[in-house]
Amino acid sequence: MEARECIKGRRSIRKYSDKPVDKALIEEIVETASYAPSWKHSQTIRYIAVTGELKHKLATECFTSFPGNGAIIDQAPWAILMTGIKGRSGLERDGSPTNRRGATWQMYDAGCAGEAFCLAAYEKGLGTVIMGIFDEDSIVKLLEIPDDRELIAITPLGYPDDAPQAPKRKTVEELLEFK
Ligand SMILES: Cc1cc2nc3c(=O)[nH]c(=O)nc-3n(C[C@H](O)[C@H](O)[C@H](O)COP(=O)(O)O)c2cc1C
Repeated sequence: MEARECIKGRRSIRKYSDKPVDKALIEEIVETASYAPSWKHSQTIRYIAVTGELKHKLATECFTSFPGNGAIIDQAPWAILMTGIKGRSGLERDGSPTNRRGATWQMYDAGCAGEAFCLAAYEKGLGTVIMGIFDEDSIVKLLEIPDDRELIAITPLGYPDDAPQAPKRKTVEELLEFK
């Protein structure tokens, strides 16, 4: 698949078939996503793949702020949690911020990794939708995410049962200026 087709063809998928997704395929996607760039090649993004009864608990108990997201997770075979190891991205070895954006660079790393993950999944015929709305505290508790990790985003993962149109994009004139 050409990069242009991969970038333009990927859609956020909110309906999934119940066709199972092998762990080996998830491993392959994470291996591809590991080629995303990161702050000083710090590679702090970590994935937690959740399925079965634990995923059902996650979907039904940890999205009270936006139950629609929980309902999507509930009918996908997997939920993939994107987490970041704290205290490295954007920081010097002594923990001081390299520039004024400090540790917020971790979110940039997660964005790069997240897009790479979603594109790698799409190339394998799988759907994703990055989710930023969830009950963070209850997920940290349910999944026993350690203190040195930050939960950043979640995506369901599975074979799509829908082929949504691309939402309209801004024009190049709106997005780009030359000086
Ligand atoms: C940081 C971020 C958070 C998002 N959070 C949600 C979410 O909580 N629920 C959801 O259904 N979609 C969420 N989305 C998906 C966007 O709505 C989607 O990317 C956008 O509508 C464009 O559609 P497309 O991905 O099909 O091109 C999020 C996307 C990003 C990048």
